[in-house]
Amino acid sequence: MKKIILTGDRPTGRLHVGHYVGSLQERVKLQNSGDYDEIYIMIADAQALTDNAEHPEKVRQNIMNVALDYLACGIDPAKSNIFIQSMVPELTELTFYYMNLVTVSRVQRNPTVKAEIQQRNFEASIPVGFFCYPISQAADITAFRATTVPVGEDQLPMLEQCKEIVHKFNSVYGETLTEPDIILPSNKACLRLPGIDGKAKMSKSLGNCIYLSDEAEDIKKKVMSMFTDPNHLRVEDPGQVEGNPVFIYLDAFCKQEYVDEFLPDYANLEELKEHYKRGGLGDVKVKKFLNNVMQAELAPIRERRKSWEKRLPDVYDILKEGSKVAEAKAAETLRDVKNSMKINYFEDPDFLK
Ligand code: TRP
Repeated sequence: MKKIILTGDRPTGRLHVGHYVGSLQERVKLQNSGDYDEIYIMIADAQALTDNAEHPEKVRQNIMNVALDYLACGIDPAKSNIFIQSMVPELTELTFYYMNLVTVSRVQRNPTVKAEIQQRNFEASIPVGFFCYPISQAADITAFRATTVPVGEDQLPMLEQCKEIVHKFNSVYGETLTEPDIILPSNKACLRLPGIDGKAKMSKSLGNCIYLSDEAEDIKKKVMSMFTDPNHLRVEDPGQVEGNPVFIYLDAFCKQEYVDEFLPDYANLEELKEHYKRGGLGDVKVKKFLNNVMQAELAPIRERRKSWEKRLPDVYDILKEGSKVAEAKAAETLRDVKNSMKINYFEDPDFLK
């Protein structure tokens, strides 16, 4: 069986370091492993419209931002097809057939949908399209016969729901669809990076993000203003490492080489943590170190983004070509699906019988 990756993001803003450690970094690694036969990376504009119906301009503008962020992180168009969801109309058709295999109460129980309904104050008036997006996401995944879906932890319930749809479809209409596996980052700190304010999630609406496209000065300002242990008032005080955003970021981004380069007085990150816990280590020193780490990690990404920004027509061509390849693949799956459902009337010699 071919090994195929499908994953994607909604284009509602620039991508941030939470996206990077939560999934982008993993995708680049998988891409470069050479273990995959096909890779599809989708800019999910249709999904973004399910809760931005009144802001199509926002979605439209962020398509390029997300494409640039992908390229900046090292997604290589020679190895991965980057495409735009709405340019593959087969996905919508698949969604329509899958809708019959899922109950309203099952979608209502989806924890990600539940949380998002709350966040968006949709309780009283949930758009039907938004409500159905887990089903459309199953269409995205199965259309490409994806075996592997590298995403952030928040997407776990979507994958479960997708697997249920695959099972249901295959049991009703015969083996047709491929069951996907999720790939989460192995580093725990990467699962859900908190915002710089210490809030559970980095999110544009909370204004607590470090963006992949942030300038060096902005990164520094954000790091130096980060929330830390609120009880660590004086340098001598013992500090708490667990749940402290500065240390969570260090767990997510720090490599031994950064300790050697920027903090040669310490053998490793563990030693720095021990000192903080013991007392006698100030937050400013730790933040300065984190700033050095973040600058080292983000500078090459920002530079690559800038060079792609100068080649927007090439990015346009990459998206157009990627969308063409994606559509051909999805059309094949849609044909199989319709064959299995026996709704392929004009290709079915038995139709008149
Ligand atoms: N839901 C994902 C997000 O919020 C985007 C997405 C849409 C996706 N379809 C997908 C991710 C299929 C993985 C697989 O960013």
